[in-house]
Parts: sequence; structure tokens; C-alpha cells
Amino acid sequence: MSPREMERIVLVRHIDGAPSPDDFRIERVAIPELADGQFLARNQFVSCDPGTRSRLSPGASYAPPLQPGAPVDGFSVGEVIESRNEHFAVGDKVALTGWATHVVSNGRGYAVKLPDLGVPESLWIGILGVPGMTAWFGLKRVAQLQAGERVLVTSAAGPVGATAGQLAKLWGASEVVGIAGGPEKCQWLTQVAGFDRAIDYKAPDFEGQFAAAAEGGYDVMFDNVGNAMIDRALPVMKMRGRIVVSGQVADYNTPVDKVPGLKHTAQFIARRLRMEGLVVFDDLPGFSAAQAELATMIGDGRVRYREEIFEGLASLPAAFCGLFTGASFGRRVIRVG
Ligand SMILES: NC(=O)c1ccc[n+]([C@@H]2O[C@H](COP(=O)([O-])OP(=O)(O)OC[C@H]3O[C@@H](n4cnc5c(N)ncnc54)[C@H](OP(=O)(O)O)[C@@H]3O)[C@@H](O)[C@H]2O)c1
Repeated sequence: MSPREMERIVLVRHIDGAPSPDDFRIERVAIPELADGQFLARNQFVSCDPGTRSRLSPGASYAPPLQPGAPVDGFSVGEVIESRNEHFAVGDKVALTGWATHVVSNGRGYAVKLPDLGVPESLWIGILGVPGMTAWFGLKRVAQLQAGERVLVTSAAGPVGATAGQLAKLWGASEVVGIAGGPEKCQWLTQVAGFDRAIDYKAPDFEGQFAAAAEGGYDVMFDNVGNAMIDRALPVMKMRGRIVVSGQVADYNTPVDKVPGLKHTAQFIARRLRMEGLVVFDDLPGFSAAQAELATMIGDGRVRYREEIFEGLASLPAAFCGLFTGASFGRRVIRVG
């Protein structure tokens, strides 16, 4: 690659069903000369987020769908290497968006200068980035978790779920139950992440395990998976329980007319339940204080995380597709720097 070129991943076609690596390709393009107000960053890491899937097919999402041929813009962390923007200087560490080796930014949108908190750089697109903040504000602002409450977390071994479960315990939950796929993830949840109980939804006795764990009910459900899990939990929510709709990883690949419906909606009335979604960027003004507090919790070992690091931009499409098969275990980040 010549010094004025970059590589980026573009969408080949709109995706129908589960994504496949050949739905993406890498293209090499010239890095444009910077205009006034722009800066150029070299990415060190880029991330795989299940939520990206919702923009890869036509249809409504919280952000407009990408068109075939468009660059894909997952989260990234890197360093400013040229700048014509007074707020971003050469050498600044930045969080940006772009499945690419480089990003040209005008500093608007998600472009954040990172403080030096003495943490590995990749955490800024993991537990200290959008996944960690989703857990933080999902519990604090949306669930309004209170000490002594019982909490259920789905996709609990993922970066959002694992952080949510650990924060719930630290903030006084009396019991935190996680649902995850497979014994290895369940073991990690109870033995490393401090969940009180983990249930393997792929095990033959899942229904029995779920019923046993649900005795006493849940005050908060933090859902990362989708409608089938929410519908299963509705009858075991406690009075004035709250369901945080964080993500729908089981439903992203399914056309809307095939997504499971909610049958147990009568429970909203009987138990005065509240179900609320979040887009974590609504909480952007609170990120830096939360990140500083969370970095301290990570530093002193109160909060644990898992990362899977892949090498090179070319590994990204397959790493992304693995989010929907259960292959991923923790935050998947790609080293591109
Ligand atoms: N609202 C927001 O602002 C916001 C921001 C960031 C992320 N999110 C959402 O938060 C959720 C979690 O994100 P994350 O980054 O931590 O990813 P994640 O939970 O690690 O997602 C990948 C995992 O999802 C599970 N999964 C995949 N297909 C499934 C299925 N059909 N049924 C049940 N589980 C399935 C798999 O784990 P198992 O092996 O356990 O099945 C897989 O390893 C995602 O839905 C994401 O879109 C929301």
C-alpha cells in the first residue's frame, strides 16, 4: 500500500438472512487531501458489532441502511496522523467509525478524543466503548436498577451482557442470572464474571433450568437477544419489573414477518411492567464520567472482560459473521494498525 492509500471494507450486496464473508469485499482507495476542519487517523483496532447487521439490509433501523458499494462503518480506535482540525492534534488517540485502515473525519458524529486512562487501546471499542456504555446506561438510566433486585441478562457472555451482569452485582443486585450458549461460556460467567447462575440455552434441559432459576422472579431483564427470550421472561417478571431492550441478535437475520411475536403481553398489565429500548448515543454526554469509573473497576479487578483479537482487515468479515453463530466469546476486535 502506498502511504497515501487506505483499505476499507464495503458491502457487496444487501444481505438476506445470515451474513456471509463474501457479502463484503476490501477495496483500496487513495486517501484524500484534507480540507479545512478535517483530520486523518490511522486505525489501530476496529470492532465487530451485531448491531451493524441491522444496516446491511433494506428496512427500518435506528440508522439508515447502507447501500451496496458503501463503506461499512463499525467502531474503531486509532491515532491522528494529520490534522487541519483545531480540536484534534497529531498524536491524539481517537475513537471513530470505519471498517478501514484509516479514517478522514471532520470531528462530527462519533469522533471522540480519548483520555489516557492507562488501559489497552482496544478497550475503547470494547468494554470502555459502546458495549460497556450500553450496559452502564441500560442498567442505570433505563432499568433504574435498585439494590436488592434480581436481574436476568441474555447473551450474557458477550461484551454487553457480561458487563451488564457484573455492574448489576456491583450496584447491589441480590442475584444475577445469565443465559448463554454452551458450557464454556456458562462456566466463565459464574467462575470469572461473578454471575450467581448461568443457564445454557442450548442444553436439552434449558426449560427446566430456566424455570428453576426464575423462582422468585426478575425485577430487571437486560435483553440482548430478541423477542423469543423476552416472551419467555414476561411471565416470570416481578411486579413493576423493567425489560431493557438492548439488542436483538437472534432476530437481526430474520425478516420482520418471521420474527417471533410476543404472546405474554397481558403481563404488562398484570405486573405493571415497563419495556424500553435504548440507543446508547443518547447517553453520549455521560460517557466520559462512566468510562473513568469503569476503567477504575477494570483496573482493580472488579469488572472482567474477554477479547478475541483478529489480525488484519481481511479477517473482519468472517469475524463479524461469527457473531451470529455463537462462535464469538467476548468482544471481537481486529488489529489493523
Ligand atoms: N442499544 C444499543 O445502543 C446497543 C449498543 C451496542 C450493542 N447493542 C446490542 O447489544 C447486544 C449485545 O452486543 P454484543 O456486542 O455484546 O454482542 P454479543 O452479545 O457478543 O453477540 C454475539 C453473541 O450473540 C449470541 N447469539 C447469536 N445468535 C444468537 C441466537 N440466535 N440466539 C441467542 N443468542 C445468540 C451468541 O452468544 P451465545 O453463544 O451465548 O449464543 C454470540 O456469541 C447486540 O444485540 C447488540 O446489537 C445495543
